[in-house]
Amino acid sequence: GTIAVPVSPHACQRRTTLNNRNRLFTDALNILAENAELSENEGPYLAFTRASSVLKSLPYNVTKMDDLKGIPNLGDHSRKLIEEILEGGTCNEVQDLIQNVRYQTLKKFTSIFGVGVKTADKWFKEGLRTLNELRASTIKFTKQQEAGLLYYEDLILPVTKVEADLIKQIIEEAVHRFLPSAIITLTGGFRRGKEYGHDVDFLITHREEGREEGLISKVISWMTAQGIILYDDITDNSYHKWKYKESETFDRFAKCFSIFKLQKMVHNLEPGRTCSHGSLAANETRGIGLAGHAGSPRHLTATAAKDKDWKAVRVDLVVAPFGQYAYALLGWTGSRLFERDLRRYAKHFGHMILNSHSLFDNKQNTFLLAATEEEIFAHLGLDYIPPQERNA
Ligand code: CTP
Ligand code: MN
Ligand code: MN
Ligand code: MN
Repeated sequence: GTIAVPVSPHACQRRTTLNNRNRLFTDALNILAENAELSENEGPYLAFTRASSVLKSLPYNVTKMDDLKGIPNLGDHSRKLIEEILEGGTCNEVQDLIQNVRYQTLKKFTSIFGVGVKTADKWFKEGLRTLNELRASTIKFTKQQEAGLLYYEDLILPVTKVEADLIKQIIEEAVHRFLPSAIITLTGGFRRGKEYGHDVDFLITHREEGREEGLISKVISWMTAQGIILYDDITDNSYHKWKYKESETFDRFAKCFSIFKLQKMVHNLEPGRTCSHGSLAANETRGIGLAGHAGSPRHLTATAAKDKDWKAVRVDLVVAPFGQYAYALLGWTGSRLFERDLRRYAKHFGHMILNSHSLFDNKQNTFLLAATEEEIFAHLGLDYIPPQERNA
């Protein structure tokens, strides 16, 4: 007979491919997780996210409650949901949620680039419900939010792997103009093998440490002159100001959150293309608008024309010094839960502090250097998990 290998409660000790055999349950759990996140309920958000994740890692379809024996990270609430779906195919709580106006509105508002839960909730409480109500309002948007509204219809479309590879070529050309032997790596979901993403993430480095300094602004300036950049927000490296023992969510690398203007390839035109939010309302599709001045009507639409020959795509560029490259690569490959569990595992089981710059060993009071991701897993005492199996 076979010996059942226990499933680890840590996402970083499981192999999670994109072949999810339990989508019916994970989709439902993800909606509950998302709703908790939109309500800033961190505990339930994590509980539903972990429940969904553990099901994604199972090498079999769950067809009866008995299949869940010994599976960690499944609380009473998640188990009841699974049981209800096993019995009737759906879950009432989820069905109610997707009809819920607050859930729908906050989901829509947070899908705008630059809008987080707090802002979305504020707008909801002010009675705002649609993008056109936002566009017509007197709200003082950030530059990021203005771009988010301007290119909204494109930015909610999935980015394909073909588009990601095309953007990689464009970035390589631009970067190599200033730093010929710079290394450019596709990270994020595409490195984990996804065919679609909400953006494209890149990590840039150079073997001679220091050569990468100042690169990002030169590259963005050049691409802007070429008409490739619709929006950019550059942050300088601030690692020198960092107290590494502070637990921080964000890293201190030089980076740029941007929106690219990607020319459509002829063979890439998809006439029947639809987006997740359905067809656009007639009054949302009119003309090419520009960010207006205070007091004048703002249209904040630029992606409405169906026959335009370009697509707005979100791109994240991160520049790491070579000595931190392996940590940056691990930190920017994801998934979000995989990263979270890696850091948690490092802290609780290794008494180490892991972030996208380094690994600090509290017992030896020293930084552990690594040239590859394999070395980082080894420092942590974990089996190496390749990117394609980090889809937790
Ligand atoms: N990340 C990060 N700091 C940020 C944003 C993202 O360290 N400010 C990390 C996330 O933890 C994630 C990776 O970068 O591991 C990619 O993030 P993101 O692009 O948001 O997600 P993807 O996994 O690429 O999925 P998607 O297709 O939605 O882009
Ligand atoms: Mn991404
Ligand atoms: Mn994402
Ligand atoms: Mn990203």
